[in-house]
Amino acid sequence: MSETLKEKALKEGVPIIKDEGLAFLLNIIREHDCIEILELGTAVGYSAIQMASLDRRIHVDTLEKNEELYQEAVENIAQNGLSAQITPYHTAIEEFKTDKRYDLIFVDAAKAQYGKYLEMFLDNLKSDGVMVFDNTVFHGLIYDPESITSRNLRNLVKKIIKFREKVHNDERFDIMMFDNIGDGILVLTRRKK
Ligand SMILES: C[S@@+](CC[C@H](N)C(=O)[O-])C[C@H]1O[C@@H](n2cnc3c(N)ncnc32)[C@H](O)[C@@H]1O
Repeated sequence: MSETLKEKALKEGVPIIKDEGLAFLLNIIREHDCIEILELGTAVGYSAIQMASLDRRIHVDTLEKNEELYQEAVENIAQNGLSAQITPYHTAIEEFKTDKRYDLIFVDAAKAQYGKYLEMFLDNLKSDGVMVFDNTVFHGLIYDPESITSRNLRNLVKKIIKFREKVHNDERFDIMMFDNIGDGILVLTRRKK
């Protein structure tokens, strides 16, 4: 299945997680025995389907603001027989509120908002939970932001750099940055007191 879903997404220019990043993410889920997962950024459901397919006990809540992508995700999830395991929400991340606590929060949406999403959803992370951020090297652009000619892109890349520095220096967290995996993956856990 997902080879076709992946191919279709790539052909249509829908951004999905890179193979290496996905393998890494799935490994985290296995290692930490993550059952309750929140995903910020569904697109067409590719990564949600991959995560839920790992284990029948896994449940994924996933958020997408784009109506068309959300509808496609709903179809793809149903076609893969995973409607009981994946709950897609058509919502802006900023509007989503829940009391649920998750083993894993996978952040794969508006990169400029990563710092905000971290604070917004920290209370929804179990004390031993893991937060994973994708695209934290942003195609390698974080290494030389001044060479970026587009001002918007440069500002976005600077925000990602700021986010990396901020979490790195934040004593609440233990951070691991895997810059060579996929498009850069940042893994955050709460520091034990
Ligand atoms: C990189 S794609 C997600 C890819 C998906 N996780 C995968 O690997 O299959 C990011 C998605 O986040 C959505 N998005 C961006 N900002 C958002 C927001 N503020 N609220 C909800 N969805 C958002 C975009 O529409 C896009 O579909």
